[in-house]
Amino acid sequence: MGIADITEDPLGEYEYIDPILMKGGNYIKEGRDSAKSTCLIFSPREEDEVGALARSLKMFEEHSVNLLHIESRSSSRLPNRYEFMVECAPNGNLGAAVENLQKNSSYFKIISRNHKDNRGTVPWFPRRIRDLDKFANQILSYGAELDSDHPGFTDPVYRARRKYFADIAYNYKHGEPLPHVDYTEEEIGTWGHVFRELTKLYPTHACREYNHVFPLLIENCGFREDNIPQLEDVSNFLRDSTGFSLRPVAGLLSSRDFLAGLAFRVFHCTQYIRHSKSPLYTPEPDVCHELMGHVPLFADPAFAQFSQEIGMASLGAPDDYIEKLATCFWFTAEYGLCKQDGQLKAYGAGLLSSFGELQYCLSDKPELRPFEPAKTALQKYPITEYQPVYFVAESFENAKEKMIKYAHTIPRPFGVRYNAYTQSIEILDSKPQIENLVDGIHHEMQILLNALKKL
Ligand SMILES: [Fe+2]
Repeated sequence: MGIADITEDPLGEYEYIDPILMKGGNYIKEGRDSAKSTCLIFSPREEDEVGALARSLKMFEEHSVNLLHIESRSSSRLPNRYEFMVECAPNGNLGAAVENLQKNSSYFKIISRNHKDNRGTVPWFPRRIRDLDKFANQILSYGAELDSDHPGFTDPVYRARRKYFADIAYNYKHGEPLPHVDYTEEEIGTWGHVFRELTKLYPTHACREYNHVFPLLIENCGFREDNIPQLEDVSNFLRDSTGFSLRPVAGLLSSRDFLAGLAFRVFHCTQYIRHSKSPLYTPEPDVCHELMGHVPLFADPAFAQFSQEIGMASLGAPDDYIEKLATCFWFTAEYGLCKQDGQLKAYGAGLLSSFGELQYCLSDKPELRPFEPAKTALQKYPITEYQPVYFVAESFENAKEKMIKYAHTIPRPFGVRYNAYTQSIEILDSKPQIENLVDGIHHEMQILLNALKKL
């Protein structure tokens, strides 16, 4: 039995759920309040398994706890047993319900946005790729809200466009085609200006991997001076290259949520463009920054893996470590430099999308330090001016190895693994799971040995 939504199949395979409880639909309200919800993952004791979910549901009812989502699946920890996941709304006496349930479970884990209130509770993180829908709209500032010093603040046409872009991203759901946008002539003109200036610098300033991928984007995704590429085309290209995909975002996400997307090889991407008044300046990420800065390297396997490592390390990590990981992301994926054939090259998106800073970062003005996650993670940085300090990576492979080592220092009582078949995160905290993983690696080794013999 695979993972299944009871919301999708209420009375099919899962007949041990009391159908009476399912009537009226009071128990399943997917989506509402999910930002403040608490997820409980539990396996009932073996002797109590028959009818366990129905009893649990009744118990939630007795404690006036509304459930937003219910799921049952085969347990990967306990052989031939089941495991349930319920998402509880922040109402009723959840504490009493948890206490009761915990007493009667052979496995129990709490994952919650409100993790600060309860010691031992794991901070919430998405476990399946479609869970990204749950935080897509938990944005810190909506993309249509502009500060008074923003170049487009007094331009009603620009403001209306920004609202249009924010709204289409707001309504996006996982699995839908990425919204196609007809850009105006003015917008294409702005893109063209940025494209023209930056592409002059790439051959000498960008890293080898960037310059390897860029012609492919011209060929496959419509990267041209007179065309703003569509996110759908770019996302399809990335998916074929490294399994990365783009997802439109309506505004600024928290670091925790943004990094969680990377664990699924999903990059949250803006679609609007900067104001035409100042084409070489933008106070926030726009489509030029995303497509010319970030996208090319997500098509590079080593960089894609490096980005995913930062994302994986963030899942369920304490808040102070989220800040450290976000800082590592800042000094690598945004402002990273690397050494290639004895020369310094830029690979950070903030550099590759900035005509001025791309030249400045390779001059003798800024201070350079080697990328060491434990130290880099503590470095303070300005966000509205050129960086005074850059960190230099030996290579993406080397940076990835360092990130993996650093991730091991993050206090988290379980391991995580991304299952690309199910596009889900596995919480590894039991022996049977590790044994299964070893079996999988054994199988991969056989493929490897077999292929080697044929060489
Ligand atoms: Fe960025």
